[in-house]
Amino acid sequence: MKVLAINSSPRITGQSKTELLMSHLVSGMEAAGAQVDVVHLRTKKVRNCIGCFTCWTKTPGRCIHQDDMTGELFPKFIASNLAVLATPLYHFTMNASMKAFVERTLPVLEPTLVRKGDITYHPLRGPHPGIVALSVAGFPEISVFDQLSAHLRFMYKQGLLGEIYRPGAEAMVQPVFRKVCDDVLDAVSQAGKELVKSLKISPETMERITQPICDFELMARASNIFWKTCIAQGVTPEELKAKSLVPRPESVEDFMGLMQMAFRPELAGDVSAVIQFAFTGLLSGSCFFTIGDGVIDASPGTSPLPALTIETPFDLWMDVLTGKADGQKAFMDGKYRATGDLTWLVRMKEMFGSSNVGG
Ligand SMILES: Cc1cc2nc3c(=O)[nH]c(=O)nc-3n(C[C@H](O)[C@H](O)[C@H](O)COP(=O)(O)O)c2cc1C
Repeated sequence: MKVLAINSSPRITGQSKTELLMSHLVSGMEAAGAQVDVVHLRTKKVRNCIGCFTCWTKTPGRCIHQDDMTGELFPKFIASNLAVLATPLYHFTMNASMKAFVERTLPVLEPTLVRKGDITYHPLRGPHPGIVALSVAGFPEISVFDQLSAHLRFMYKQGLLGEIYRPGAEAMVQPVFRKVCDDVLDAVSQAGKELVKSLKISPETMERITQPICDFELMARASNIFWKTCIAQGVTPEELKAKSLVPRPESVEDFMGLMQMAFRPELAGDVSAVIQFAFTGLLSGSCFFTIGDGVIDASPGTSPLPALTIETPFDLWMDVLTGKADGQKAFMDGKYRATGDLTWLVRMKEMFGSSNVGG
């Protein structure tokens, strides 16, 4: 089986979630014996269709443009058994690069009008690959793909063999969700195998692909602090990450959310402890984190048996968290109090990575 896998995200490798998912789909397809040609549209020149219909009249089946679509991609498209259209969800549909690609496949159709039932269509001029759609979105609800799905189903009808949609995709790179995200990616790879073997994706695999990654409250809270910090620092999400800047919580609830997102299960190992924070000053309040079995839980209030209690002005701790203040020096200077097992002060630092959440 010959597959053409097209990724239309403008983001580079390592940043693009479309590419992340597509690479797993491709590896599944290859493992099942398919020969897959991967194309990143960001590296190709695909001009917009100009509606001249030269491809229907003067040069039937061939576009007037001299670019990568005419020279390379269209011939590969019609020679494939399957084409993967992988696009980030932009404004609830495919992005402009993918739309330009799809419009430029017009030469595959004849101009003739044919009617079947109450639907008019143009017949195919020659072979057309089966279509597999893949898309990722920032919002967490699967319904954000409804419009894209309706569009593709109408356009490709029985030719649409699979639809892989992953909402909340930006959270997929957070280490705290690694376990569930690894399962999602493994399921995408499984979908690739199933498509090559049976031209369809099983309901069980679809369920794994769309399984929840994290609860909405936590995701929205972390994402909102992240964007606020980007705006305050005047940096893009990628610049924030490159500079290792840590989003700055402005409330105890935000702090709880951020700490949960920053937790690194692989660094925490199998330790278990309760760490209590008592915030003093203008912004007062208490919360504690229960850590155990590689999982963190955040609760408001006070715990009866914390391993470590930190009493600190809220702003000071946020300065320590974001690297504006030296935690050790602040402790020596008596600016905050830590009681209990003080080794947790160091271990805590090790268990939380930089939390560039959102994006
Ligand atoms: C111009 C633009 C429009 C977007 N529109 C939506 C949208 O309508 N719904 C949504 O859930 N996410 C939307 N997003 C978020 C992207 O779908 C999300 O960040 C995705 O992970 C990007 O994929 P990529 O990393 O492969 O580029 C939009 C992002 C951009 C840049």
